[in-house]
Amino acid sequence: MRSQEITKLQKLERLQKGVQDVWNNWDEVDSVEHLSQERQRAWKKLLTSVAATESSELVLMGALLDGFKHQPEIQSYFVSHQMDERRHHRHLNQYVLKTFGYFKRKSTLSDKVVYETLFPKIAHLCAKSPGYGIALLLFFESFGVTFYHLCRAQAENDHLEKLVQLIDQIEKDEKRHLAGLKILLQASMYSEWTALDLVTLDSLLAMVVLDVNFSWWAIHNRAVRRNALEVGLNPTELSQAAFSAAAQVHRQIKTEMRRGRLWH
Ligand SMILES: [Fe+2]
Ligand SMILES: [Fe+2]
Repeated sequence: MRSQEITKLQKLERLQKGVQDVWNNWDEVDSVEHLSQERQRAWKKLLTSVAATESSELVLMGALLDGFKHQPEIQSYFVSHQMDERRHHRHLNQYVLKTFGYFKRKSTLSDKVVYETLFPKIAHLCAKSPGYGIALLLFFESFGVTFYHLCRAQAENDHLEKLVQLIDQIEKDEKRHLAGLKILLQASMYSEWTALDLVTLDSLLAMVVLDVNFSWWAIHNRAVRRNALEVGLNPTELSQAAFSAAAQVHRQIKTEMRRGRLWH
């Protein structure tokens, strides 16, 4: 990676550490008596699912720390990024616990398949070929920005002021993460990728799109879809956002493959 890019990455890392100091102790609660029981139930369940998705990013990042073990400046950047995701996961769960008195103890079948079986396997592949991990994180970050943006509007409609505050902060973090990943795209050796690598990436993207899918046919996410509808989100819009985020990642990686070849 060129020194100019390392400088940019280090600047983002400093920003991330600064944000941690300000937000680590965030501990706010909303009053929800004005919401119906169904609406409260939908919010607590939906936010718990979002917290779980935040933790799946942590698994990927753990693999990337391994994958970039010979590039300390990238590793150090990922440590700060990982701290952000850990905080998102913790704050969302803590908000749900303090506002709704709810904490999910039991893993569902879908959690077992996705987070306990599939993700560790994907992570293993990403540790060996970090290019996959960067691309998948890029998907989560860009889908996350759209999701949080739509979710924030519904939280505002329901007068959940502290949730809006939390989402605002997470959104800012996710946008910064996107900026970091775009720098890292150039350090991920896509110039050495073959057409087969791109096909493998497409199947990994199909899996993560399925994981966040809100369509009527996505039976594993039926409850999540119901909760999204109840809080006023549009499942079709969310599913389309996931498909277009994946298509955009595919295009970006293809561009990086070509760009790298032009330089060699
Ligand atoms: Fe996050
Ligand atoms: Fe993120």
